[in-house]
Amino acid sequence: MFLDTANITEIEAMLAFGWITGVTTNPTLLAKEKGRSRADISREILSILSEEQRLFIQATGETQTELYEDAQIILSKDARIAIKIPADEIGFRVMTQLKQERPDVEILATAIFSVEQSYLAALAGCDWVAPYVNRMANQGLQPAHVIADTAQLFKQLGVPTKILGASFKNTAQITETLLAGATDVTIPADLVTVMMQNKLAADSIHAFNLDAKGGRR
Ligand code: E4P
Repeated sequence: MFLDTANITEIEAMLAFGWITGVTTNPTLLAKEKGRSRADISREILSILSEEQRLFIQATGETQTELYEDAQIILSKDARIAIKIPADEIGFRVMTQLKQERPDVEILATAIFSVEQSYLAALAGCDWVAPYVNRMANQGLQPAHVIADTAQLFKQLGVPTKILGASFKNTAQITETLLAGATDVTIPADLVTVMMQNKLAADSIHAFNLDAKGGRR
């Protein structure tokens, strides 16, 4: 499981559970951390991640050159950084360029809304594709179908590209995404908290605690 946030307090709180593989950010999440630069936020997140955990940072740019140069700047900071590249025509060019030059670089193709984009990202050698579940649902698309078809296609092609579900606004979207065949998900911290909460469980645990009172040695 990845955490979808650039907020250091949220990341610190969630790292305590030990189930976090890494952190994903995007320009919008970074902009929410007002008054701080991308480099500054990234440095602080990396300072609390382990050697095995990944930090995903998204490259931006209007042209192939701009996008490629931004990716190089991001990747130069730390070996634990994986690069997010938007899956459009310019992005596919940059993915191919980066993989040819540095096959070890880990690339996540982001802003995925179709099987077609995922297919091209896999051909470009991307390590992950990130289908945007809630944004698809908002447009009347069927994210579970897109993810299931993508998973089937990747299996059929025998490509190692993994599916990292993203853009979640409720917990049902997360479980549906995993059941549809996603290998990973990136979740906002508040939704991870919701996943831990269950009224029936809370009532049962409360009753156990009441019954245990006085009986403990
Ligand atoms: C992940 O890396 C994506 O950028 C993110 O999940 C998008 O989420 P949103 O649709 O809630 O902005």
